[in-house]
Amino acid sequence: MNKSSYNPQAQSVEVYDPARRPPSQEAHGAPPQGSSLATHTAPSPARDLSITARHAIPAAICSLAGVGYYLPETILTNEQLSNTVDTSDEWIVERTGIHGRRCVSATEATSDLALRAGRAALDDAGAAPADVDLILFATSTPDTPVPATACYLQARLGCAGVPAMDIGAGCSGFGTALHMAGAAVKSGMHKSVLVVGADCLTRITNYADRQSCILFGDGAGAALVTSRGFLDVIYSDAGADGKSADLIRVPAGGSRQPASIASVEGCKHTLELRGREVFKAAVRQMCECIRRAADSIGVAPADFDLIIPHQANARIIEAIGAQLDCPPSRLVIDIAETGNTAAASIPVALGRARQGGLLKPGQLVAVVGFGAGLAWACQVLVVKDR
Ligand code: ACO
Repeated sequence: MNKSSYNPQAQSVEVYDPARRPPSQEAHGAPPQGSSLATHTAPSPARDLSITARHAIPAAICSLAGVGYYLPETILTNEQLSNTVDTSDEWIVERTGIHGRRCVSATEATSDLALRAGRAALDDAGAAPADVDLILFATSTPDTPVPATACYLQARLGCAGVPAMDIGAGCSGFGTALHMAGAAVKSGMHKSVLVVGADCLTRITNYADRQSCILFGDGAGAALVTSRGFLDVIYSDAGADGKSADLIRVPAGGSRQPASIASVEGCKHTLELRGREVFKAAVRQMCECIRRAADSIGVAPADFDLIIPHQANARIIEAIGAQLDCPPSRLVIDIAETGNTAAASIPVALGRARQGGLLKPGQLVAVVGFGAGLAWACQVLVVKDR
């Protein structure tokens, strides 16, 4: 792919799928022992020593002690979408790498998915709800406008009394919440922060818009952030460009344009996306984030053992790899079965990469999110022995 820019004519996408099978309905935390996932071989070329063994690594800001994710049961296929809008499986796969996406049932909401992911993260950490002293919940699809969905989660998890709040940073929400969790742990103000990224984008998708309806799926991911875990966060950054806020938006339903018959009839409660512009901004900004992260810790982007970008479109991730001179084997593209799950995208991809055996002690891993705002967040993780 041309290094300098977005190439809308790119013809094929090689999608790396760590599981090579539909994820089960169960919430996922620690990798299963003896499963096909646990024995999956990392595709990265062998290197004698990871960069973390050759290079002085900064002290950890905080650490992930447990991670978990959950994807709902129902699959919405490309074929099904092609029955409602003028599209095809071939077009969607070529242009996005997406084969299917998960959808909530009529009775499920964002906190239902988050509950399963949150419990999986706590189980993975060997922690109890009583250990959590702060909940940061990244979502663009809260159960209700008021109260914060974090409060529903707090009650259902049984984390009585702890502060619980929502963070709205679109698809970069998990990384933005992790950034704030790092500050809370590093300052000593909190010891054990449950960071959740969960969204039901299918609830705010316009299924008459073929450009956007093919992209989105539902899911949840979570991490317990403490001072001692198995994924040290050694770098964290977050930012936003509010001047580009209109590139991805839901126009109505807030104080600017409250819900009305006209807003419903005008389809103003679903996501509007300026696809091409977002594509270019996503590539540019995620590349800048990774370059800044690499500079800050004194390595090159190609030194990262793995890069886990927001799963918006496989071609966006391929373009990032090309611009950073990163071999495809170091880029996690895990969008085939999930679509873009917004705030859940990074923790789901991280959890599935781990289940696929891709995370190995000593590795340096960059995670980078990008989405509505426009907003972005980037962390560098060092994988440790458990
Ligand atoms: N099926 C068939 N044809 C389609 C479809 C479709 N589903 N969608 C668009 N087309 C057509 C267009 O109408 C256009 O036809 P024309 O040339 O006759 O006008 C042609 O395909 C090319 O359209 P493009 O918009 O240039 O297609 P592109 O390759 O850019 O793909 C897409 C569109 C998938 C939306 C891409 O731009 C993209 O992924 N953008 C980024 C989305 C993103 O990152 N979202 C993340 C943020 S979302 C959030 O934060 C919640």
